[in-house]
Amino acid sequence: MPERQTKIHPQWAEAPPELPLRAGEAFIWAAVLDLPGSAAAEASEILSSEERERAARFRFEKDQIQYIASRSFLRALLGRFLQIDPKAVRFRYNSFGKPLLADEFAASRIEFNLAHSKGLGLFGVTLDRAIGVDVEQHRPDLATMEIANRFFAPEEVKVLSAVQPSCRLEAFFECWTRKEAFIKARGMGLSLPLDKFTVAFGPNRAPALLSADQGATTAASWTLADLSPADGYSGAAAIEQPDVAVRCYRFQP
Ligand SMILES: CC(C)(COP(=O)(O)OP(=O)(O)OC[C@H]1O[C@@H](n2cnc3c(N)ncnc32)[C@H](O)[C@@H]1OP(=O)(O)O)[C@@H](O)C(=O)NCCC(=O)NCCS
Repeated sequence: MPERQTKIHPQWAEAPPELPLRAGEAFIWAAVLDLPGSAAAEASEILSSEERERAARFRFEKDQIQYIASRSFLRALLGRFLQIDPKAVRFRYNSFGKPLLADEFAASRIEFNLAHSKGLGLFGVTLDRAIGVDVEQHRPDLATMEIANRFFAPEEVKVLSAVQPSCRLEAFFECWTRKEAFIKARGMGLSLPLDKFTVAFGPNRAPALLSADQGATTAASWTLADLSPADGYSGAAAIEQPDVAVRCYRFQP
């Protein structure tokens, strides 16, 4: 049976043509990454040779297409903010692999991050503030108390086990994506221990960072936002600034 294409929720409208980046705001785009082969071939033309080589290393065509689509969408978005040809966007990577704009674009103060899961991509952009985003398709096989015990802080495990079983799948992925978004904003990968910070999640609890790794940052410096781009997926953004207004759009190539 052919896989059904993911549908982005209609609340994620197309972005207005003029969208200046401002302090106190974060923009998030959702995009369907399952491009038909011909569109993927066209999209790969704006990638760098390193990106094309990386795409070619994926064993499965669907992973190649997902990578090509997400990199070409990222380039299109950043090119728009930088007012340059998407092909001219250049990246550097920190020592944990987080992509950042190359130094020649430092004056723009643009920060970004992206995530993808099973054909759906999320792209976050801010001015001058660290951002991390995550998206995960709900997988019941992953959302177990055993995995929660392994990856979540003890306080989070307690919250999850108190959630009604019918809401537990969603609560699990709220916690997972919020933690992952924070890790990605920090850009330190799993060198930041997952049990050293806690997030609020679950029915009737607003997303928030409740505690952070002491010394390096404080929970009050962060906004955590819930992103629900499509049925069957959870998403989150973490931005290093309190009270950020998060605006969500769909990517229209
Ligand atoms: C590297 C990492 C970001 C991988 O995350 P992932 O869930 O496999 O992938 P995602 O879709 O969220 O993100 C991938 C994108 O993040 C970006 N990225 C890579 N390294 C990153 C880092 N150190 N920090 C932030 N962003 C990073 C890249 O753009 C990458 O996409 P690309 O390779 O196509 O350019 C990292 O956080 C990780 O390994 N996490 C482990 C997952 C885990 O155990 N989570 C527990 C949550 S409770």
